[in-house]
Amino acid sequence: MHLISGKNIARSIEVSLRSSIEKLGIRPHLVVFLIGEHAPSKTYVANKRAACARVGIQSTVYELPSSLSQCSLLERIQNANQEKKTHAILVQMPLPPHICAQAVQSAIAPEKDVDGFHPLNMGKTLLGQTGGIYPCTPLGICTLLETLPVSFAEKEAVIVGRSSIVGKPLAAMLLAKTGVAPSSVTITHSKTHNLGTITKRAELLIAASGVAHLIGKEMVKEGAIVIDVGISRDEKNNRLVGDVSFAAVQERASYITPVPGGVGPMTVAMLLKNTLLCAERQL
Ligand code: GUN
Repeated sequence: MHLISGKNIARSIEVSLRSSIEKLGIRPHLVVFLIGEHAPSKTYVANKRAACARVGIQSTVYELPSSLSQCSLLERIQNANQEKKTHAILVQMPLPPHICAQAVQSAIAPEKDVDGFHPLNMGKTLLGQTGGIYPCTPLGICTLLETLPVSFAEKEAVIVGRSSIVGKPLAAMLLAKTGVAPSSVTITHSKTHNLGTITKRAELLIAASGVAHLIGKEMVKEGAIVIDVGISRDEKNNRLVGDVSFAAVQERASYITPVPGGVGPMTVAMLLKNTLLCAERQL
């Protein structure tokens, strides 16, 4: 079994981003809206901020109360859209229940939509069109896969998770005719009937359901490449765990990502990459 260190790969991407940013002539600026008191979101945003600082991206975080109205958030996004010195805008999810995520994602100017969640960018991702912005987590996963010394052409891929942030765009990106395109891509989710029968066929298994320990050893094919996108907190010992029961599954996998230190740092690295891309396109 080989451990895929997303952390190390992300750090080497940061080194090359830092030198590209030094040569850019302007400092890319990312604006983040963090609404409410969701503790994991606060940690993720703090990590994103620290990563921006490491590569020379300016970041501004607006921490707003959960009582904020949708109208007021949309107005703030409009202002950021018009602000020339803001190149990239991110609204951290999840949002309080009275704010509609789709309305927020559609309000961000597509050229500043660093998450790639705007319908225009998501449409380009789905259609395999160039000139859009790929969502950070699927882009991070594809970048991880590119580092592996394996051929994907004859592999059967199974994604567990149907979210708009990971599962759906990742399926579209794997189906595009790139160097990491598998032979087939199946999307399942935590409530899929006979889930284990399907995941057991996977030579590339990507777990993105958000259900801790959903994937046990008996659900994994011998020699599979296992990518764990899940991040949950184990209440018993207060540690972060993934969708995959790591200790058992690592015995079966040829390659596996840890939690933490796998997909998470890659998502952050891709946010930095997309921020630079947004800035370059607005020069
Ligand atoms: N919450 C969990 N993942 C993400 C992400 O990739 N982007 C945003 N904006 N919020 C998230």
